Amino acid sequence: MTSDPFADTKPMIAPSILSADFAKLGGEIDQVDRGGADFLHLDVMDGHFVPNISFGPVVCAATRRISKAFLDAHLMISEPVRYTPAFVKAGVDAITFHVEVVDDPAAVAQEIRRLGCKHIGITLNPATPVERIWPALDYVDHVLVMSVVPGFSGQKFMPEVLPKCEAVKKRLRSNQRLEIDGGINAETIRLARDAGVDWFVVASAIFDKPDRKAAIAAIREKLNG
Ligand code: DX5
Ligand code: ZN
Repeated sequence: MTSDPFADTKPMIAPSILSADFAKLGGEIDQVDRGGADFLHLDVMDGHFVPNISFGPVVCAATRRISKAFLDAHLMISEPVRYTPAFVKAGVDAITFHVEVVDDPAAVAQEIRRLGCKHIGITLNPATPVERIWPALDYVDHVLVMSVVPGFSGQKFMPEVLPKCEAVKKRLRSNQRLEIDGGINAETIRLARDAGVDWFVVASAIFDKPDRKAAIAAIREKLNG
């Protein structure tokens, strides 16, 4: 577990709690924190930008209270700037916003930073042309390429986003990171790694398994193999 994933260039695995059992969330987070997770991915959904509603600042704050891990809030919401203060207050370390919901992604990235968020990510759906994020590239710390249509965990990895990963990676500075989210498991992770991805979000391939430590170890073995 790390409190600063930017301090290292090694590949990292970020469990998404979306597939955890929310009736025992504390224990679930503890299992992945102790079980080899590098940091945590928090999938926030508003039922508007995506056809599902997950959780908001309350669950992020609860996660903050029980984990020292770096927390990346993936905001699948229509108004990221409006809700940034609430997520900063909840103690997340990064906010990742969708380029599809903003007109001027560079301005939004700067505004989220001005509102007190230390690390900014920009993300794009599989159908969104990669050129949309170029204007913001100087103002973000990481780029998240979606490898499923966001809204639900447990979907199938879309290999057609791999060229997008390669295009982004070519333009990143050494202090920026490339992340992927959706359908990552022991079978797909090498495809993403070979396309230049640094950080791998995993929900179902960890939380759907009874032994989370073993699940993370199996994925990491493929990643490092
Ligand atoms: C998709 C979310 C993902 C999702 C990943 O809407 O942004 O983070 O939970 O789930 P898996 O790893 O099961 O594809
Ligand atoms: Zn996500």
